Amino acid sequence: MARILVKDIKKTFGKFVALKSVSMEVADREFTVLLGPSGCGKTTLLRIIAGLESADQGEVWIGERRIDPLPPRARNIAMVFQNYAVFPHMTVFDNIAFGLRMQKLGSEEEIRRTVEWAAELMHIESQLDKYTGQLSGGQRQRVAVARALAVRPQVLLMDEPLSNLDALLRLEMRAELKTILRESRTTTIYVTHDQVEAMSLADRIAVMHGGEIEQYDTPLEIYRNPATLFCGGFIGSPPMNFLEARAVAPGRWRIGDLELDGPRDAGSRLLMGVRPEDLEPVQGEEPALVGTIQVVEPLGSHQLAILRLDGGSLRFAGDADLPLRAGETLRLRPRADRLRWFDPGRERAIRA
Ligand SMILES: Nc1ncnc2c1ncn2[C@@H]1O[C@H](COP(=O)(O)OP(=O)(O)OP(=O)(O)O)[C@@H](O)[C@H]1O
Ligand SMILES: [Mg+2]
Repeated sequence: MARILVKDIKKTFGKFVALKSVSMEVADREFTVLLGPSGCGKTTLLRIIAGLESADQGEVWIGERRIDPLPPRARNIAMVFQNYAVFPHMTVFDNIAFGLRMQKLGSEEEIRRTVEWAAELMHIESQLDKYTGQLSGGQRQRVAVARALAVRPQVLLMDEPLSNLDALLRLEMRAELKTILRESRTTTIYVTHDQVEAMSLADRIAVMHGGEIEQYDTPLEIYRNPATLFCGGFIGSPPMNFLEARAVAPGRWRIGDLELDGPRDAGSRLLMGVRPEDLEPVQGEEPALVGTIQVVEPLGSHQLAILRLDGGSLRFAGDADLPLRAGETLRLRPRADRLRWFDPGRERAIRA
């Protein structure tokens, strides 16, 4: 069992609070992605789990073992760093064998078999005799992952492992990693600030912001039901729209000319959140959000438009065939089942 339990971790650097009070539980064999903007504490949390950094308070457990008092070597964790740190003066084989030899995990013969297994998994079995200095960035990245997998860690931590690759290779490696990690069945925490990467890889995403986890859930649940304004804005491209709504009666809210059913007993002012693709054009004089189209971006599969409304702007993703033209007026209604409501003061969702 390699469940990871992070309990109430706090970390400060001088006066700066890097992690406020972070708790999370990653299930055995689960692939969790830590997602958040630069500086939100992702690497710090990963380094604390690996034992490369110590927390001011809190506990880290793997399975039934409390590991935060243990040195890194005793934690049975492998980490792949952003700059992938392979040894250029060693062959691919020796790089992958490095951890196994250090930890004396088997005879030379057993080590050879393990290296070949890990190299095959990463499709670099034909490169074993090369020096890593002679490899491309993508190949070096594969060596780093193979080296991490070779020690058969209970837990694999990866810090932006694809960030040094070009866009195409990134896509390719992303799909491969997903397959490989599923096959190796290693409990994994993967750090990225790329929301598309997070959505496509994760079983669950922990959205971090300012040293805290704001939401920890499946990609679809975070997309559909963001817990905070930040989560709704950070995940999804383009992000969720937020429009100010005023109470007109208990459970009734007005935005421009449009009246909508919403939460009761929630004060006089709320933010209504709706995804760009959950807006539908309306014909005729039915009440709607009425805006002027500022820009249209035809994307082939669909098109994006930015509208100017009274008191804000609105992003709309519509069918590629809709006749959208800059300067024209567009009338839109949000799909009733996709409306989300947020408290503007606390910046948190109000659950109906
Ligand atoms: N050793 C340190 N001394 C002082 N401040 C630090 C140290 N390490 C990290 N920090 C600060 O803690 C905050 C979180 O850093 P961290 O590296 O965890 O961010 P991150 O989420 O990994 O960002 P990025 O996406 O840019 O890698 C940052 O503001 C950083 O400046
Ligand atoms: Mg980082």
